[in-house]
Amino acid sequence: MGTLLEIRDLKVSFDTEEGKVEALDGVNLKVKEGEFHALIGETGCGKTVTGLTILGLLDNNAKIENGQVIYKGIDLLKLTEKQLQQQIRGKEITMIFQDPSTSLDPIFTIEEQMLEALENELELTKEEKLKIITEELRKVKLPDVEELLKKYPHQLSGGMKQRVMIAMMLSCRPSLLIADEPTTALDVSTQAQFLKILEDLKRETKITAIYITHNLAVVSEICDTVSVMYAGRIVETASLKEIFLNPQHPYTYKLLHSVLGIETDIEQLQEIPGSVPKLINPPSGCRFHPRCEEAKDICKTKIPKLQEISDGHFVACHKRVMEWTKC
Ligand SMILES: Nc1ncnc2c1ncn2[C@@H]1O[C@H](COP(=O)(O)OP(=O)(O)OP(=O)(O)O)[C@@H](O)[C@H]1O
Ligand code: SF4
Ligand SMILES: [Mg+2]
Repeated sequence: MGTLLEIRDLKVSFDTEEGKVEALDGVNLKVKEGEFHALIGETGCGKTVTGLTILGLLDNNAKIENGQVIYKGIDLLKLTEKQLQQQIRGKEITMIFQDPSTSLDPIFTIEEQMLEALENELELTKEEKLKIITEELRKVKLPDVEELLKKYPHQLSGGMKQRVMIAMMLSCRPSLLIADEPTTALDVSTQAQFLKILEDLKRETKITAIYITHNLAVVSEICDTVSVMYAGRIVETASLKEIFLNPQHPYTYKLLHSVLGIETDIEQLQEIPGSVPKLINPPSGCRFHPRCEEAKDICKTKIPKLQEISDGHFVACHKRVMEWTKC
């Protein structure tokens, strides 16, 4: 599988009244074509900021200090707002958010909004666009599609709105989907239906996805590769099996072993000592060192690099990398 997206040494900060928030500090991430790549980690570790940076949707107080986001050979960070809007957003890469109500405009019907999403498809007639839209709405198993197109968002349930969002996204035929906590606002049975739709899509369309979530059960069901973020850095990347059976970074180990089983959300874990550091003046060296039982002096001064310790298994930890190189 080739690489569809590669993030290299990405640093993003935010100017705030309290000071500079060092939100992303050297993020490195490779997403392969056709895979579902999970991005996990406690709240505030930079998952959403990573997704928003890819699409050039960061808030005005954000500054990209360094790095590249290479998508199909192009550095997205070098594109202008107009180029991103015309060539990338919606067309190539699309993002679905936690709460679908924030993405759907209450004053337009579903049909108007779905047609709007296809506005750059200049070669298609309105009838052709409507045919695509109808097909996609049926694919996500929405009933009475013709009637639904005439409705406004407030007339739909949360689960229906989320499915409309997916259909809208699919009608644009993107290569990469960034799903940011897409099931959090849904009830349990709607969550299960949503995951089934995504599984079908994965099988039928070969779409690539970055799946941001706190829910390890969902990760184990739908993802192929997992990257673990901590305080603005990727600390471990490996296949799903490796992450669950052979986690190497002390933080990943804690995330997975603080509770019995994987049915608990990351946010419900209580056993990791201390809390996520503030990203204004974050800890030096390895940002996990104040919470790490295995920390040594070097951990306080030197930033551990993300290094490959076995095929496709990357870890950023002085102790692990030293142990592995000795073998
Ligand atoms: N506009 C902003 N101004 C200042 N700080 C910001 C801004 N947006 C994000 N941040 C900070 O960047 C860091 C990363 O935030 P991000 O939203 O990416 O976390 P997350 O991993 O998605 O968390 P969660 O799991 O809660 O969604 C946090 O410290 C957050 O407070
Ligand atoms: S680098 Fe040091 S502090 Fe960081 S996770 Fe590894 S052992 Fe712990
Ligand atoms: Mg987030």
